[in-house]
Amino acid sequence: MTEFKARIAGIGSYLPERILTNEEISSMVDTSDSWIRERTGIRQRHIAPDGVTTADLAEQAARRALDDAGISAEDVDLIVVATTTPDFTFPSVGTLLQARLGATQGAAFDVQAVCTGFVYALSVADNMIARGQAKTAIVVGAETMSRILDWTDRTTCVLFGDGAGAMVLTGQDAGDEASPGIMGTYLRSDGRFKDLLHVDGGPSSTGTVGQLRMIGNQVFRHAVTNIAESMTTIAGRAGVTIEEIDWFVPHQANQRILEGVARKLSIPTEKVISTVADHGNTSAASVPLAFDRAVQDGRIKRGDLVLMEALGGGFTWGAALVRY
Ligand code: UT7
Repeated sequence: MTEFKARIAGIGSYLPERILTNEEISSMVDTSDSWIRERTGIRQRHIAPDGVTTADLAEQAARRALDDAGISAEDVDLIVVATTTPDFTFPSVGTLLQARLGATQGAAFDVQAVCTGFVYALSVADNMIARGQAKTAIVVGAETMSRILDWTDRTTCVLFGDGAGAMVLTGQDAGDEASPGIMGTYLRSDGRFKDLLHVDGGPSSTGTVGQLRMIGNQVFRHAVTNIAESMTTIAGRAGVTIEEIDWFVPHQANQRILEGVARKLSIPTEKVISTVADHGNTSAASVPLAFDRAVQDGRIKRGDLVLMEALGGGFTWGAALVRY
């Protein structure tokens, strides 16, 4: 079967207007702006108002990505939404989005890999495009993490925010190594670490949505090691060195993790896109949100070599390498 390469034809993102500052959170739980900034780098996060759902955020981001690509929703034959905070137990946010956009071809579904969700969703779409199963895909990371936080738990509620980011992928003839497109994806998981980062409810266990629980300092240790491993593995498989990569778009969990990984792999911090100060941790939305910001402000340009990576609950982790 002919192999195709998935090219990023367009990108878009969306953040709800409401900003929650560290000062405001300090009046809700026993914390401070200085603790949050020193330990995480976060200054603020966006919060979806009541009535605004994950599908609403996903729709805005997807429409912006379609506009950027100059592609009509009618041509879309695959929608993959990475989310851990869907509107409903079912149907998926993917199918909700399909209906809203007026897309009727192909398939739409959700992928659940928490903060690694966007990398997983990108990998699924890339593989389906490569096999000719889809030609034009929208891949979205969208979250309303604010809905699953325990707003009395200072160890978690200060960390997360809401938002969405999307990419439109189109299948092209595979071309040569230097032609634009996804060069590879690398997915990992290890289910033994569930207790370090999980939600304590669900339809089949408690019949409730549940709230996010994390033993942050233990997750931190795994994060730096596993992320660095995924980055060196994907670069090695693609035959490029870390030095040859123009930009690193990491999952935005903590500025100290970004810096720890950069130090470990001798990456200059100017090459690492960071939005954690303004967005907090938006789970599956964080990678496309950061990617879009760096495209909008002119840092990431067409032809650049970009590495995306993430780690999240499960544990799940992974990376994607793309010639933009
Ligand atoms: O996106 C999925 C992946 N997630 C991550 O990668 C998150 C990884 N973990 C982290 O980013 C960090 O571990 C945190 C930001 C969650 C915590 O930072 P830390 O430097 O690891 O702090 P810690 O958990 O070791 O806690 C240090 C102290 C504790 O007090 P004691 O026991 O030393 O008296 C905590 O109770 O800080 C306390 N603390 C707080 N103090 C003020 C914890 N949260 C807060 C808070 N405000 N919000």
